[in-house]
Amino acid sequence: MVALGLIVASTVLAAYAAPASQLIQPRQAITTLTSSQIAAFRPFTLFASAGYCSPSSTLSWSCGANCNANAGFIPVASGGDGSSVQFWYVGFSPAQSTVIVSHQGTDTGEIQALLTDANAIRGTLDSSLFPGVSSSVEVHEGFRNEQAKTATQILSAVQSALAAHGSSHVTIVGHSLGAAIALLDGVYLPLHLPGVTFRTIGYGMPRVGNQAFADYVDSHISLTHINNKEDFVPILPGRFLGYHHPSGEVHIQDSGAWDACPGQDNTSGLCTTGDVGNIFEGSSGDHGGPYDGVTMGC
Ligand SMILES: *[C@@H]1O[C@H](CO)[C@@H](O)[C@H](O)[C@H]1NC(C)=O
Repeated sequence: MVALGLIVASTVLAAYAAPASQLIQPRQAITTLTSSQIAAFRPFTLFASAGYCSPSSTLSWSCGANCNANAGFIPVASGGDGSSVQFWYVGFSPAQSTVIVSHQGTDTGEIQALLTDANAIRGTLDSSLFPGVSSSVEVHEGFRNEQAKTATQILSAVQSALAAHGSSHVTIVGHSLGAAIALLDGVYLPLHLPGVTFRTIGYGMPRVGNQAFADYVDSHISLTHINNKEDFVPILPGRFLGYHHPSGEVHIQDSGAWDACPGQDNTSGLCTTGDVGNIFEGSSGDHGGPYDGVTMGC
């Protein structure tokens, strides 16, 4: 009762100090990650980078530096052709005790073309892939169509990997376009795999859907999206077009510090939306990284 009393008292106090919009959740500060918290992302950053490697090299886990850095990974399936279907692979990481799903990204020019106003059309999710998701949830049609191309193959590879390794954890990663596909997989897979714990980690992720989508993501999935310095891809498509980021941003500062930004599309100057005001202030060179020393690509 004492604790409850304190909460009520501080809520009443906050009512005088904060606008109504901040009363719903306690105020959270922007926090800087410790070096061990940054280091914990590194295997996943390398798994995302390996998404750029050819299916034959990920299926034999012989893709060079990205694969060597996660030695011990057990591939299960790989696919894509790198042009009409982005590369992908699925396997099991004993060191991280999780099934990994990784999607290839694309270069800055190509992703930028997909994100221009004219191409930023949204639509609803396919109800057979995404049963039960409200039609108020809208996503970028280009991203939706990319995710749909591999959805069922990814699902069956994940089922095989979970069964083969007695695992109940899945981590989905990707950079750029691959992060957008990973986020949609992060929404899709749990609808078909009850009892499994999911985590999605995106790098340089563009906005994928509208406010209802961001709210759905916040209430259903565990997401971290890591943005490097002045990379402008994460501020596209623009909020004025009705796009909105879910929570879970980590912004890499010019100093190299990793800051966790609370809330959706935080406009603080320490977070991407506030820091990179418009595309002209952004830098295409920051899109590929480095993310803790890892530059995306095979
Ligand atoms: C952005 O972060 C600040 C912490 O500095 C927090 O007070 C604020 O509520 C956040 N904004 C949003 C939109 O969540």
